[in-house]
Amino acid sequence: MSDTTSNGKIESHSLEVETYPPSAEFKAQANLSDSSVYWKAAQDPEAYWAGRARELKWTKPFTEVLDWSNPPFAKWFQDGELNVAANCLDRHVSNGLSDRVAIHFEGEPGDTRTITYGELTHEVKRAANMLTALGVSQGDRVAIYMPMIPETVIAMLACARLGAAHSVVFGGFSAESLRSRIDDAEAEIVITADGGHRKGRVSALKPTVDDALRIDHGDGKASTVKKVLVVKRGGNEVEMQAGRDLWWHDEISSFDGEHTAKGFPAENPLFILYTSGTTGKPKGILHTSGGYLTQAAATHSDVFDLKPESDVYWCTADVGWITGHSYVVYGPLANGATQVIYEGTPDSPDWGRWWQIVEKYKVSILYTAPTAIRSCMKVGRQVPEQYDLSSIRVLGSVGEPINPEAWRWYHEVIGGGKAPIVDTWWQTETGAMMIAPLPGLTSLKPGSAQAAQPGIDVNVVDDNGNRVDPGHGGLLTIRRPWPSMVRTIWGDDQRFIDTYWEKFGDQYFAGDGARVDEDGDIWLLGRVDDVMNVSGHRLSTTEIESSLVEHHAVAEAAVVGADDETTGQAVVAFVILKSQQQLLTPEAAEAELRQHVSAQIGAIARPRQVFIVNELPKTRSGKIMRRLLKQAAEGKEIGDTTTLADTAVMQTISARVRSEQGK
Ligand code: PRX
Repeated sequence: MSDTTSNGKIESHSLEVETYPPSAEFKAQANLSDSSVYWKAAQDPEAYWAGRARELKWTKPFTEVLDWSNPPFAKWFQDGELNVAANCLDRHVSNGLSDRVAIHFEGEPGDTRTITYGELTHEVKRAANMLTALGVSQGDRVAIYMPMIPETVIAMLACARLGAAHSVVFGGFSAESLRSRIDDAEAEIVITADGGHRKGRVSALKPTVDDALRIDHGDGKASTVKKVLVVKRGGNEVEMQAGRDLWWHDEISSFDGEHTAKGFPAENPLFILYTSGTTGKPKGILHTSGGYLTQAAATHSDVFDLKPESDVYWCTADVGWITGHSYVVYGPLANGATQVIYEGTPDSPDWGRWWQIVEKYKVSILYTAPTAIRSCMKVGRQVPEQYDLSSIRVLGSVGEPINPEAWRWYHEVIGGGKAPIVDTWWQTETGAMMIAPLPGLTSLKPGSAQAAQPGIDVNVVDDNGNRVDPGHGGLLTIRRPWPSMVRTIWGDDQRFIDTYWEKFGDQYFAGDGARVDEDGDIWLLGRVDDVMNVSGHRLSTTEIESSLVEHHAVAEAAVVGADDETTGQAVVAFVILKSQQQLLTPEAAEAELRQHVSAQIGAIARPRQVFIVNELPKTRSGKIMRRLLKQAAEGKEIGDTTTLADTAVMQTISARVRSEQGK
C-alpha cells in the first residue's frame, strides 16, 4: 500500500496499516522534533517533570519533586506554592500580553464577545472579590452548573484564585444528579445561569438547581447550599429565593479588579469532577494544583504543537467534562493561548456552524471527539467543503477510539490532507493526556493513540500483571505516578485504592483494554469493565440499571453498551416488568422508562432502546450474562450459551430484538 499526499509520502508499512509521517514543513517548525525527548524523560522522569513544572510561576519554589512514600497517594512538588489562576492570567499580563485575546466567545444565537487576557484577569479578580464576600475561602467547595459561556471560565478561575475547589456539573445532568454531587462535595455555593442557548432555544438551568435543592431525602436534612449565584444568559423567567439566590451581575457590580493572588500549596485541591464508575454512585475525582497544571500545560503545548502567539485553538468540549477542564480552561490559559469558546451544538442553526466558526476565527488547532466527526461524516463532506478551513494545521481527537474511516475523513475533509491528527488517550482520572502522538515526530497511524507522552510509563499486561507480547490484547496500566494523576476519590480513600490499585498493586489500572503492535504503538480496545462510552462520555451500566429498577413498574433490568455507528456505544436496556404491570404496552413502557432514566440521570443516559422481556439470561449462579445481551443488541450471532441456566432465553430475546430492529 502506498500513496502520496501533501503531508509527504504515506509509507508502506504493513499489509493493513498506512502511516503518515510528519511533513518536512511541519517538522521544521514543530515545538518538538527531536525524539531524544522520550529517552531523556524516561531516564529521569522526575527531573523531566520538575523541568516542566518550573515553566510555571511558583510563589515558593518546590524542592521535593515526588513523594510516593505512601502509595497510591502521590504528592507532587508538595513543598512548593503557586496560584493556579495567576499562572493562567496575571503571569501573562505581567509578561506584556494583556492585549492578547484569551477568548473569542461565540454564543449560539450569534452574539459574540472578545476577551483579552487583561480583561479576563480583571473579571476573575472581581469575581474572586465577590466570592470572598460570600464567604468562600481556601478548601471550600463551589458547585458550578453552567452553559458554555465566559462566566463559567471566570467562575472556575475565581475559585482557583481563592484556593477553593470547584465541582463543575455538566448542564445536561438532572436535578437528582446535581443534588447528589452537591451533597457529596458539601458545596455551600452553587453558581448557575438562568439558562443557556441550545439547538435554537433556551435550555433552562436555574429551575433544575431549584429542584435539586428542594429534593427531600426523607432524612430531614436540607442541602449544604447557602447561596446560589445566577448569571443572566438565557433571559428565561426564573424564581429567585430571597436570602439565597443572587444575580451575578448585581453582586459583582460592587467589586473592583484589585485582588492579589496568594500562593497555595501544590497539593491544594483544585477541583472535584464526578465521573461514572462501575457502581451506581459517581466517583468524585480529586485533582490538585501544581502537578495538574504542569501536565495540562505541558501536554497542551507539546501535543498540539501550540504557538501561543499565532494559533487560534478550539476545543469543542463542554467544561462539564474533564476535557473542558484541562483543554479549555487550564492548559490553554496557562499557555497564554487564544481560543474559541462556542456555546451551542454543531447543528445549530445547521451543520455548517462549526465550519463557519473555523473560517471566521481562522481556527488553526481543532480538538473534538470521534462521535462528532462521525455525525459530520453522515451529513456529508459537501457541508464543510463550503467553508475555508485552510487555517487548520493540527487536529485532535479524544474520548473514544477513532475508527480509521473517521480518521481519514477528518484528515482529508477537515485537515485538507495535511494537518496531522493527534489521537489523545486519557481519562478524568489521569487529568491530562497520557498517550498521544507528537505531531512533529510521530508517523501517524489512523486508529492508534500511539505512544506514551514523555515522562509517562504505560504498560499492557495480562490478568496477572505480566507484560503481553506485541500483537496481543491486554489491560492498560500506568506504572509510575504522573503529575496530573487523581489524588483520591473525594471522601473515599478506600474506594480509590480498590478501584484503581487493587488489581495490580503498584500499577494504576485504567479499565481499558489495549494492544501494542510490532512498532510499540498502542491501540486502545475500549473498556473492559461495566463502563460504557456514549459519545465520548462515560456512563455506568450499574447506575442506569439502578435507576431503572427504582421505577415502580420494573422488576429487573440489565443494561449494555451496544456498538453504535454514530455515538460509539449506545445504551440498550432489557427490562422485566413487575407482573401487575403487564398491562402496560411494551411501547408505552419503553417510552416511560427512557424518559425516567433521562429525568433521573440526564439526557445523555437515556437508553436508545428498552426491550421489555420476560426473562434475562443468567448463569446457574444467577449472574446476568450481559455479554450475550450485548451481542443480541448489536444484532450479532449469539455466542456460547451453555453456561446459561435456561438456554432458550437468548433465542427469545434475540428474536425480539430482530423483530424490533426490523421495524
Ligand atoms: O475508555 C477510554 C476512553 O474514555 C475513557 C475515559 O473517559 P473520561 O474519563 O470521560 O474522559 C474522556 C476524555 C479524556 C477511557 O478510559 N477514551 C478516551 N480517549 C480515548 C479513549 N479511548 C480510545 N482512544 C482515545 N483517544
